[in-house]
Amino acid sequence: MKNIMSDKPNILEVKDLKTWFPIKRGVLARTVGNVRAVDGVTFSVKRGETLGLVGESGCGKTTLGRTLLGLEKIHSGEVILDGSSLSTLDRQTLQSMRQKLQIIFQDPLSALNPRMNILDIITEGLAQFNMLSDRRETVASRLMAEVGLSAKMMYRYPHEFSGGQRQRINIARAVSMKPEFIVCDEPVSALDVSVQAQIINLLLDLREKYGLAYLFISHDLSVVSHISQRVAVMYLGRIIEYGPTAAIIHNPKHPYTRALIAAVPVPGDRRRGKIVLSGNMPSPAHPPPGCHFHPRCPEVMTVCRKTFPQERDDGTQRVNCHLY
Ligand SMILES: Nc1ncnc2c1ncn2[C@@H]1O[C@H](COP(=O)(O)OP(=O)(O)O)[C@@H](O)[C@H]1O
Ligand SMILES: [Mg+2]
Repeated sequence: MKNIMSDKPNILEVKDLKTWFPIKRGVLARTVGNVRAVDGVTFSVKRGETLGLVGESGCGKTTLGRTLLGLEKIHSGEVILDGSSLSTLDRQTLQSMRQKLQIIFQDPLSALNPRMNILDIITEGLAQFNMLSDRRETVASRLMAEVGLSAKMMYRYPHEFSGGQRQRINIARAVSMKPEFIVCDEPVSALDVSVQAQIINLLLDLREKYGLAYLFISHDLSVVSHISQRVAVMYLGRIIEYGPTAAIIHNPKHPYTRALIAAVPVPGDRRRGKIVLSGNMPSPAHPPPGCHFHPRCPEVMTVCRKTFPQERDDGTQRVNCHLY
């Protein structure tokens, strides 16, 4: 696959990653199956790049993000951050990885300790890692300015802020650690539309200023396409299409991607098909045989019911679909 920004090194490489949750039954808690939340995912992110990860609720986006942070156990496959594999690290190296990799969650309030004021929240990580370069107050006011908050508010508590301000606090806490990579898990999905753009612009500014790389997760393709250089489309634990944002938006190949795009209003774009998805995504505990998308696919063929499609790479886009 041709790489845009190909001069830059990878900050993150993910190879055939699987994260499964065992399903236990009976008094002996026997494992009777697995929820294959992430089921063989491969991608890379370059320094300073944003990869958008898009797909319906329940397709495995959060599990993937959490696995990258070491918050879920890897079933198989590999996560390589800045050249080191997450699974083989000793505790000390793991600590430095934790500093390089941060996460911003969807619900800004639940991510903040209600009993801590903003000063403590955004300097806690720095204090833990012995990274405070100055008085806590000085560091906090610098970080607050960075995310567009007045330093006067540093003694207030999370409930005294609006949703957008709380997400700014979460962002300040994440960037305080001088990370290289931030997993943004639906960071604007819980916010009013008018506030969403402000938070996205803040993330864009910080990316520019610090050369940050993001994995930007959203169920909303229009939000993802605004911030990402490349987009990965996820369905039932797998990436079914992957490529530069412009190619995904203007030349989507997978019928699922086309359906996602048809759902996004783009003024003046007449090439969009009118595909409406029927039914729900199946359970990742019992994926359908063949192509996982075939029960909902408007272009389903006989082969789709039997065989999972091999990946096709045309040099720009990767797609898993028997049409190609
Ligand atoms: N801790 C868990 N135990 C069992 N199943 C889980 C767990 N976390 C997530 N899942 C399941 O994994 C699938 C993917 O969930 P998730 O990663 O949250 O998707 P998304 O973020 O795309 O909405 C869902 O079917 C969900 O029910
Ligand atoms: Mg999620």
